[in-house]
Order: sequence, then structure tokens, then C-alpha cells
Amino acid sequence: MVQKKMFLSNMICNTYQYILMSSLMSLVFILLTSDVHAGSVGTNQEEIEMGRRIYMEGISTSGVPLKAERQGAVQLEGVAAACETCHRRSGMGSLEGNIHVMPIAGHYLFDTQENRPLALLDTREAKNVTRAHAPYSEESLAKAIREGVNVSGREMNLVMPHYAMNDSDIKALSAYLKQLSDDLSPGVEEDSLHLATIITPDVDPKKADVMVKMLEKAFEQRNATQEVHSGRMRSPLDLLPRKLRNWDLSVWELKGQPETWGGQLETYYSKMPVFAVLSGISVTTWAPISQFCEQKKLPCLLPNIPLPPSEKSYYSVYFSNGVSLEANVLAKQLRSDDKKVSKRIVQIYSDDEIGRGASKVLKDTFQESDLVVENRVLTDSDASKTKELLKGLSNNDVLVLWLKPKDLMKLTKLMGKNSPDKIYVSGILSDENYSFVTKATKPHVRVIYPYELGSNRAKNMAMMKQWLKSWQIPLVDEPFQAEVFFDALLMTELSSQMLDNLYRDYLIERAEDMLSVGSNVSAYPHLSLSRGQRLASKGAYIARISNDGKLVSESDWLVP
Ligand code: HEC
Repeated sequence: MVQKKMFLSNMICNTYQYILMSSLMSLVFILLTSDVHAGSVGTNQEEIEMGRRIYMEGISTSGVPLKAERQGAVQLEGVAAACETCHRRSGMGSLEGNIHVMPIAGHYLFDTQENRPLALLDTREAKNVTRAHAPYSEESLAKAIREGVNVSGREMNLVMPHYAMNDSDIKALSAYLKQLSDDLSPGVEEDSLHLATIITPDVDPKKADVMVKMLEKAFEQRNATQEVHSGRMRSPLDLLPRKLRNWDLSVWELKGQPETWGGQLETYYSKMPVFAVLSGISVTTWAPISQFCEQKKLPCLLPNIPLPPSEKSYYSVYFSNGVSLEANVLAKQLRSDDKKVSKRIVQIYSDDEIGRGASKVLKDTFQESDLVVENRVLTDSDASKTKELLKGLSNNDVLVLWLKPKDLMKLTKLMGKNSPDKIYVSGILSDENYSFVTKATKPHVRVIYPYELGSNRAKNMAMMKQWLKSWQIPLVDEPFQAEVFFDALLMTELSSQMLDNLYRDYLIERAEDMLSVGSNVSAYPHLSLSRGQRLASKGAYIARISNDGKLVSESDWLVP
């Protein structure tokens, strides 16, 4: 029976093959060891701060913008010259086209070779790892920065700019680099990596359960297979040396009002700090969690939520902009059939963060147009009040319902012959449950659907369904579970690339580069991020409900 079970690692192998071509599957043994890094001793805080400004903002110690020359000619100044643009916030480097930008976090420059951890320079090729070199000193660092000559005396690629820097700049920068990504992040221990997932109140217990089951199973598999690289090789990356660390899952269940969540998160975190929050679910707000993640510099990757908080954050990554994306897609659709459209959109929503958020986006979009957008709020009161909401509606109106199935049901039951020709509902809020659709409303209902449809969807779900089946985990909600599945695969892949460099900023950077890998196992047609982006999927379909109850797209994939 055992060999029938699908291993997560096999799946990653499949994912890999889709994306990366199997020519990579050459074995590489690299006989290098890596070590947990010892902390470096106290350097003057002011100097580090001046170094940070050079590194992150391109401002020299004298307060003027940094000046540099690239490719021998292009002048760079200020933030454009900041080291972070290429070497990244973590100092772990990046790939610029096909050019390897070396890691320059302290260990990589100043440690002796045997204390220097190995890092992967190009995730597409396991043989592209950092190479041996003598430790840098302040002088050799200065030479690299001013003249583009590295510690081994080689003239570096001209992508690395030549900087005009004085000695105090070099000193400050050196102090900053010495402490950059020095200690491994909280949540990383000698033999374990701690991760958490979060469940907020009012979530369907079936979904919360299945999420935890899936993550636990994925972690269990990952832990069981990490020692047997050769037997079940996922990718050449797994042959690179690293410490064996068991993944450990904490489930943070929040109770009560959102105002109290911050305190609860703090309590969970102080008992067991985690390296990252993976997945998670909420049907209401996510704002307190995102704030917590930002404050703790804790990556919070890809939860299942109806609407991400609007504040920009560095450490939270989302699948999409939720109902706000849906509202923008709908606006695009309505504008494109402008000529056919009536002069009025009526939107009905519940008076909560999600309903207010979605309806505001739609209303704001049409502010400058001659289309009237009328808001009506569903309250929990009696049926007569609900009936009021439909008052005066005619075939010519566009009706938009930002509601969940039980509320949709209340309204569709009351709709007669005069109901609007087009009734748009949110795919995210409908939760794959279209039982609210009556015979009379069926021809009119359109779902704004932010996931893949049809045969592509079926194809992308096959792997997850097989995995669920082999572990006897029920299929409760397909797009939701596909998100959890994707999260587990992604985390496995990212940690595999990071080797022993378990820094939180580096995890976010890897996620920014990596999200497009594995899109084919999610319910989204395409997932990708680039630097600074935090919303991985950017469009939706407008779909109708066919006679057999399936969704059929009526539009292209619309990206607002
Ligand atoms: C435009 C991109 C870019 C910027 C900006 C940049 N670098 Fe680099 N850097 C590179 C590349 C590419 C290399 C590798 C070149 C090579 O090895 O041929 C590199 C290499 C280095 C090295 C040598 C590393 C080694 O392993 O020998 C050091 C040190 C370095 N950079 C420091 C800095 C500092 C400090 C800054 C900011 C003041 C900076 N770089 C800004 C692209 C950049």
C-alpha cells in the first residue's frame, strides 16, 4: 500500500518538470559543509544605521546621494545606486538576467571559507552555488566597491557598479554588512523549523479542519523524506548539503473580537516563535494579523481570506486582492458592454469589512461616469426589510450582490419577473455553493470568478485530488484546498532553495521570485510576483451557471 501513496516530493518533481525541464536532473555532489553562524560582536549602532542608509537608500554618510557608474558609463545616483536593488534586503543576492549577484551578507564576505554557508545563486541549476574565496577585509571591500575588483583580484562583471565612496562610507557599510543576516531568524532551531497557521473565529470548522489536516500531512511527509534524498530525489537542489530540520506546525486559533487578536498572537508567539505563518483562513478581517506580521517581521504567506488589508505591507503575501479584485474585474466588464448597459448599478452588501470594501471599490470606479451606483445594505432583520432591498428594480438595472450563499438565498427567493437582466455575484463569497440560484434567476446570474475554469482547472486539480485521496483527506472546497496544497508545495520548494540560510527576508525574496513555479497545481490560472508585488493572481472570469450547475466562462480572463 505504501508505494501507492503519493509523496509530496514526487509532486514537486512533477512540478519541476513542467517548469524547469528535466535536463537539470544531473547529480551534483558538493563537498562543503555549512555551519550555524556565530553572532558577530557589537558594532556601533550609529555606524550600522549609516551603513543601512547606504545599503537600502543610497545615501552616503555625509548625507548626499550615493554616486556610481555602471557598465563604465551609466550614472546611478541615490536609491538607484543602493546595494539593495541587486543584493536584496537580506544581502543574499539575486539573479539579474543570467548574472549572479553574489550574496554579501556578513558571513559571505568576512568569514573564513569553512565557516561560510553555502548559498544557491541560480535556482534553475544546483551547480550554481557560491564559490570559495578568501575573507574580505575593509581594504578589499573598498577595492570591490570602488574599482570592481573582487578579493581574488578578478575584475567583476560590469553590472556591479563602481562607487565613489570615502573611507567613512566604507567603514559604515562594512559595519552594516557584518550584522546583516547574521543570526538565523527566530523560529529556526538546530534541528527544527517552526511554522504556524492561523484560524480566525467564524470559519467553517470543516474547512479549518481540512486545512490543518493537509498541512500536518504535508509536514509529516516532508519530514519523513528529507533524509532520503537519493531514494526520492525531488530536484538536484536536494543534494546540496544542509542541516536536517523537522518542520513543526503550530495552529494559532484566535477567539473573540479582532481588537483582541494582536494580544492573542503575541501570546502564541512568545510561547513558540515561528519562522513564518503559512496559509491560514479567515472569513472576516485579516488586518490584525497582517499588522502583527509586519511588526514582528514575520513572513505570512498566502492565507485564504476574502479581502486582504489595504495597507501596504512587506511581509504578507496574498493569492489575490479578493473581492476588491472582483469589483475591479466587474467594472472592466461593465465598461466594456457600456452601450448595452443601463444607467444604474444597484449593489447590495452586508455591512461588514468585506461588503463595504467591495462596494466601495465599485462605486469609486464609476464616480466620474454617468452610471449611477446605488448602495443598499442588507441587515439581519425580517423578510419585509429584505424585500425593500429589491424595490424599484427593473430589467434594465445591473444588480450586484456582495453576499454569502445564505443571504443570496433570501434575495433570490424574492425575485420575480422584473428582476434585473444581469445579477452579478462574488465567486469568493459564494464559496462554490450555487444552491441560491432559482429557476427564474439562473439565466441572469453571473459569477465573478477569480479561479481557473474548465479543462485547465480539472487538469491542475488532478494532482491535489490524488494526494487527498491517498491520505483519505476529504475534498470540502476545491479552490480553498488547492491554496493550502500550493502553500505546502511552495514552502517545501523555497526552503529547499534556501539551504541553511533561513532568514525571513530571504524567504520573502525567494517567494517573490518563485511564485510562478507550481502555478499548475493551484486553482489559479497563473500565479506570479515580482519585486514588491504582494498579490499573486490578478484577474477573474465572468461566468454563467450551466444547466448542469457548472460554471462556464463568458469572458476572457479579465485583468483590470
Ligand atoms: C546593479 C546591481 C548591483 C548593485 C546596485 C550593487 N552590486 Fe555588488 N555585485 C553585483 C554583481 C552582479 C556582482 C557579482 C559580479 C562578479 O562576481 O563578477 C556583485 C558583487 C559584489 C561584491 C563581491 C562579492 C564577492 O563574493 O566577491 C561585493 C563586495 C559587492 N558586490 C558589494 C556591493 C555593495 C556594497 C553595493 C552597494 C554600495 C553593491 N554591491 C551594489 C551587482 C550589484
